[in-house]
Amino acid sequence: MIERDAEQLESPVSKEADHEERDFEIGLRPQSLAEFIGQEPLKANLEIFIQAAKQRGEPMEHVLLYGNPGLGKTTLAHILANEMGAQIRVTSGPALERVGDLAAILSNLGPGDVLFIDEIHRLNKSIEEVLYPAMEDYALDIIVGKGPTARTLRLNLEKFTIIGATTRLSLLSSPLRDRFGVTHHLNFYEEPDIGQIISRSAGILDVQIDQSSTQLLACRSRRTPRIANRLLRRVRDFAQVKADGQINQQVCQDSLIMLDIDHFGLDPVDRLILKIMIEKFSGGPVGLSTLAAASQEEIQTIEEVHEPFLMQLGLIQRTPRGRTVTPAAYTHLGFDPPVQKLS
Ligand SMILES: Nc1ncnc2c1ncn2[C@@H]1O[C@H](COP(=O)(O)OP(=O)(O)OP(=O)(O)O)[C@@H](O)[C@H]1O
Ligand SMILES: [Mg+2]
Repeated sequence: MIERDAEQLESPVSKEADHEERDFEIGLRPQSLAEFIGQEPLKANLEIFIQAAKQRGEPMEHVLLYGNPGLGKTTLAHILANEMGAQIRVTSGPALERVGDLAAILSNLGPGDVLFIDEIHRLNKSIEEVLYPAMEDYALDIIVGKGPTARTLRLNLEKFTIIGATTRLSLLSSPLRDRFGVTHHLNFYEEPDIGQIISRSAGILDVQIDQSSTQLLACRSRRTPRIANRLLRRVRDFAQVKADGQINQQVCQDSLIMLDIDHFGLDPVDRLILKIMIEKFSGGPVGLSTLAAASQEEIQTIEEVHEPFLMQLGLIQRTPRGRTVTPAAYTHLGFDPPVQKLS
């Protein structure tokens, strides 16, 4: 039988960061491009982009950053503003409920300021329409009055930069997407880069961690900086209580067992998803909503957190009829792979 144990499934992989974690993350956030580890091609591009804008003495073009949760979009937005010596204002798609909210923010921006809009795919349509002239012509079209006497007033804005971040590029309307001068994708990180991120964070947190433990945590971190930092934090707590604060192989292994993270970096929810697909749906294809209902997870969480990594590992595949598991998933969970039908 497949059961969800709520306590057991409290996992370092979950998408949302709580307040305490947000503070923790801010402390570890790199402040400059030089401190930002990995993503070398993207960094090289951004360096040129920043230098060119500086040489022209103009604000940056609007930038759209997309990629899975925890890969560094918010971090990069702050870095871009820092590197430009610009002020940054932060908001998000769901926070901008009324046109007036956006108008107030835009009209208060100074020349060269950056407006960071997180989760930009969640902007509502009427707000998006205000953004178009703002992004294109640095102008706000305001409707004054009602009915037949209504007129449009155009208010000029300072030249500013919008940095948008999204985990779901496909949900962005194409007119909005087209108004960004540059679009950058953040990929999953290489394992050695995650190792460097762990060492850097350990330095900032002033915890002792040896090379082999760093490597072990790096390979369990789903190639994602946020998860690497979370694991480090959990292991640090474990070490503090059980091993005089020193992080070594044994401490890492014990804490990973306690967190129920396996050698692929899969957490209980990942394994539950695979198990449901194998045991209840004979390996698939299964639709996303069916999978969400069966695992009691949200569709969005499966789609943004679990599925990309399971696909990356080649444990599931997306087909036009739904998701299927691969033979590797059977083996990983200790099932016999299905016998291939001869066609
Ligand atoms: N390249 C990097 N080098 C060092 N640390 C990084 C890097 N990228 C991200 N981090 C760390 O990972 C944490 C998560 O990054 P960030 O909040 O920027 O992710 P995000 O892409 O905005 O995620 P979300 O989609 O959930 O908003 C940050 O606190 C930061 O410390
Ligand atoms: Mg973010």
